Amino acid sequence: MDRTQFLLNLRKYGIENTVPNITDVSVRLLTDLIKIQWTKTMLEIGTANWFSSINFAIELEKTWWELITIDFSPKSHWEALENFKEAQINNIHAILWNALDEIPKLENDYFDFVFIDGMMRRSMDFLDLCLPKTKSWWIIIIDDVIKFREKMVWLWEYLEENDIKYNILPIDPDDGIMMIIKK
Ligand SMILES: C[S@@+](CC[C@H](N)C(=O)[O-])C[C@H]1O[C@@H](n2cnc3c(N)ncnc32)[C@H](O)[C@@H]1O
Repeated sequence: MDRTQFLLNLRKYGIENTVPNITDVSVRLLTDLIKIQWTKTMLEIGTANWFSSINFAIELEKTWWELITIDFSPKSHWEALENFKEAQINNIHAILWNALDEIPKLENDYFDFVFIDGMMRRSMDFLDLCLPKTKSWWIIIIDDVIKFREKMVWLWEYLEENDIKYNILPIDPDDGIMMIIKK
């Protein structure tokens, strides 16, 4: 199976069906970060049709590590499982449930990379729940923080109250990501 063609088809499907997949620039940046960090265990909130998950898993596969991805949409989950089989990816564990309920059940100190791409209004809750799950040094990326800034008011307050330093990277023409790093 030609994974490059598979991902191109998945991208095309995403555009035609208005699936809010991450952009190619974001894919490139995040997979580069996985490479640089030698990421072992990654957590993704918001699987959708697995476009981002499969890109991350292909990079993680090179070092035999894994991705856990959570989405509460059954349609997305089952679509994703089909894609997963077709792309012959074996290092993704997909959880079908609300991430707000599932994150607390995950092992503490387990992840070194977290990608938050779920409901914008809950970004602060996702971050708060994910922090205890991270190892001593980690990267957390939150998507769409420029375009949907007004939906993330609690996130900005939370960052300020907890004195969490971050960078905003305006990597897309109309949007960008937040990067928080602990070393
Ligand atoms: C922007 S899409 C994810 C796109 C995907 N990361 C990609 O780039 O291919 C957001 C997804 O998050 C899921 N989602 C939103 N809030 C969630 C929650 N609380 N728990 C689980 N999934 C959630 C939605 O069902 C949707 O599929």
